[in-house]
Amino acid sequence: MQKLANRLERLGTETAFSVAQAAAAWKAKGNRVYPFHLGDINIPMAPHIVEAMNRAIADGYTGYCPGPGIPQLREALAEDIGARRGMEFSPDNVVVMTGGKPVITKFLQAVMDPGQEVIYPNPGFPIYESQIEYLGGTAVPYRYVPTESGFAIDLDQVRASITPNTTAIIYNDLQNPISAESTAAEREAIAQLAIEHDLWVLSDEAYFETRYEGVSSSIAALPGMAERTVILYTFSKKFAMTGSRLGCAVAPLEIAQIMSKLNTNDESCTTHYVQWAGIEALRGPQEPVQQMLDVLKERRDVACEIVNSIPGVHVAVPQSTFYLFPDVTEAMERKGFTTVGEFATAALENTGVSFCTREHFGRRLPGEERQYIRLAYSGIETADIREGLGRLREWIEA
Ligand SMILES: Cc1ncc(COP(=O)(O)O)c(C=O)c1O
Repeated sequence: MQKLANRLERLGTETAFSVAQAAAAWKAKGNRVYPFHLGDINIPMAPHIVEAMNRAIADGYTGYCPGPGIPQLREALAEDIGARRGMEFSPDNVVVMTGGKPVITKFLQAVMDPGQEVIYPNPGFPIYESQIEYLGGTAVPYRYVPTESGFAIDLDQVRASITPNTTAIIYNDLQNPISAESTAAEREAIAQLAIEHDLWVLSDEAYFETRYEGVSSSIAALPGMAERTVILYTFSKKFAMTGSRLGCAVAPLEIAQIMSKLNTNDESCTTHYVQWAGIEALRGPQEPVQQMLDVLKERRDVACEIVNSIPGVHVAVPQSTFYLFPDVTEAMERKGFTTVGEFATAALENTGVSFCTREHFGRRLPGEERQYIRLAYSGIETADIREGLGRLREWIEA
């Protein structure tokens, strides 16, 4: 038989999609499912953005366009992303891509040679681990420790993980799946380490504007960081545009030029008419963004209240993202489960509540004792959150 490429053995994936399949199969058997598994949004893209996209198609913006994006969108992004971070970017710093995800791969392609090490959050977005390893690097995880208000990065571990072979650190403030948010001191400590060891930084800011209290800050804005940091920006979460596939990297010029060349190799360009919709999203009315945040905040409050009323389950109320990452260790013991995967399957089959677990967000680290699940509330109505989590509570209480 013909042989496939060896590197495929190192390719991971987003296993959250397999949870979606299990939920769909359970539903197809006639069962009620409460979908807490996918980080997608069940709120439609705002009408003014839809109109802009349709208008762009009607106006003939359907052919190829420049690899790094159309100048008008690059300009709008440089302005908006800069203003919200207290920074100044030129359109030349902006490379438009088909969502935020490709920024991860292109960042690694630009800064990491095979055999080099990249430090990344775990639990974290699973594509970091997958792409570091697929591209021949060594994925070096760093962990979080629970605090009163959520989670904090184990800075000692980050420090101890850096070797002369480390080329980059991936940092996801406002974190998926755990909703962790750095204090200013934590952000500064990460920046300090990057500067001291001359590391590149990928700052994944997918949830920068998905926040209910407080203000977001970017590590890129700290002194000495702009020249070593690539920001991952996406329209997916802020504008409910997950399926439109639009995002960008904001990068130092040298990296931006490499990413633009990678775009030309991989996609030629990002869908032309979607970019015009992106300009409307950034420059048009912003009320729909606030309306969506109001809906998500209500869902968060309802979900947190019920989750914290379940015996053996606890979560701190996050100020950002649309995920809860409750500790379910005692609830699992109560129900007699030793693996969180079995717990999730039993929860689906007994209550219809479908969710991912810690296992979907990177390989479990040595010494990890607590058990966690991830509840996404972006794709489920408040009434169904009440009903579903109410059923979960009854099942755990029984
Ligand atoms: C932390 C994080 N980064 C990046 C992405 C990629 O999003 P997209 O490719 O839709 O922009 C996601 C999506 O869930 C995410 O959670």
